[in-house]
Amino acid sequence: MNDNPLELLSPEECTNTILELSGVEFEPDIAVDLWSNILKHKWLLSEKLGRDVGLRTACIDFLENMEQAPDEYLTYQQKNILSEMGAQTISRKMWDTISDSQPPKQLVQRRIIMPLMEESLSLKHGVVPPKAIVFFGPPGTGKTHFVKAIAGVLAWRYIEIVPSMLMADGVEKIGANLREVMEKARNLDEVVLFIDEFEEIAGSRDMADRIDKSITNEFLKQIPLLKEQQNKILLVCATNYIRDLDAAMLRPGRFDCIIPVGGLDREGRTTILEHYLSTLNTGQIDLDRLVEMTSGFTPADIQYLFQQVAHFAFEQELATQKDYLVTAETFIDITPKVLPSLSDEVIEEFEKDSVNFSRV
Ligand SMILES: Nc1ncnc2c1ncn2[C@@H]1O[C@H](COP(=O)(O)OP(=O)(O)OP(=O)(O)O)[C@@H](O)[C@H]1O
Ligand SMILES: [Mg+2]
Repeated sequence: MNDNPLELLSPEECTNTILELSGVEFEPDIAVDLWSNILKHKWLLSEKLGRDVGLRTACIDFLENMEQAPDEYLTYQQKNILSEMGAQTISRKMWDTISDSQPPKQLVQRRIIMPLMEESLSLKHGVVPPKAIVFFGPPGTGKTHFVKAIAGVLAWRYIEIVPSMLMADGVEKIGANLREVMEKARNLDEVVLFIDEFEEIAGSRDMADRIDKSITNEFLKQIPLLKEQQNKILLVCATNYIRDLDAAMLRPGRFDCIIPVGGLDREGRTTILEHYLSTLNTGQIDLDRLVEMTSGFTPADIQYLFQQVAHFAFEQELATQKDYLVTAETFIDITPKVLPSLSDEVIEEFEKDSVNFSRV
């Protein structure tokens, strides 16, 4: 629509064109505003009806429905952006797959979900609902899972941006693509915008080359713009490498919370194990023993273990043509072959990061 010369009319030309189309004469400064809305309305009507609607029809329809037309246009535009950005609806149930004892569930509940859901109570007590947060922690600890679960529980749409998507047009274009994505996202309402592998676009500028620096700078500009918006958008950024982020990115005022996502305790493992056990064809299982055996396992390790067990069971039955039940013995055989991601060393580093970088 930007190439359309109709968009470049002078105020007087707007007055005359609208007069010609509708028979109504508006002051030039009002006509300019009306004209841009009429063009949007023409596009909206054409999209809705699936055919190109003439200017006269669009102009008259717009003037007749002047009150609701801009709102309708906004809603329609949002729908378009949502599908373009691959917005997903997440089930509320996802939140229940996370045990109450799994950090940071309770923290997220208190600091993120309640202030966003109880808006007027937040306002009454001067609590500022969060707009931008960071999750950090070792791979596979459930950061992405948490973000989706938040979207589910808020009943907001979930949009994921992976930096590799921004690289599609070459490295030089990452900054521009990031700006464009963020501009689009700012038009949306009730959306959780998730940026994974956040260090790719927010790395420290000390060590970076020129292009990397410009991407980090662009991102630094985008956060306050997003925070100024009145609509409900929660930006969540996740990283495995919190130490590599630019210091300016982590300064108070940019992100509302910086939240560590670490290992699972017994209860956390039990909840996830129960979930995955329900997907298998099981016989006698010793859950306590399994919880014991999976110390140091992340949710991703548990998922991997269950994939191995499922394949084993499948192949057994295929070979013997007899019902194969997964039992405690199956797990005793297979679990030692899966190495826990959270070694003492990884946990130690994560704990240091938690002390140095957390802000909740
Ligand atoms: N509470 C949970 N219940 C069931 N499955 C879970 C749970 N938490 C995470 N998972 C599963 O574990 C796997 C790893 O989780 P996720 O992808 O969220 O980790 P991550 O921290 O984002 O990893 P990375 O740092 O590599 O991006 C996923 O397949 C996810 O579905
Ligand atoms: Mg992830």
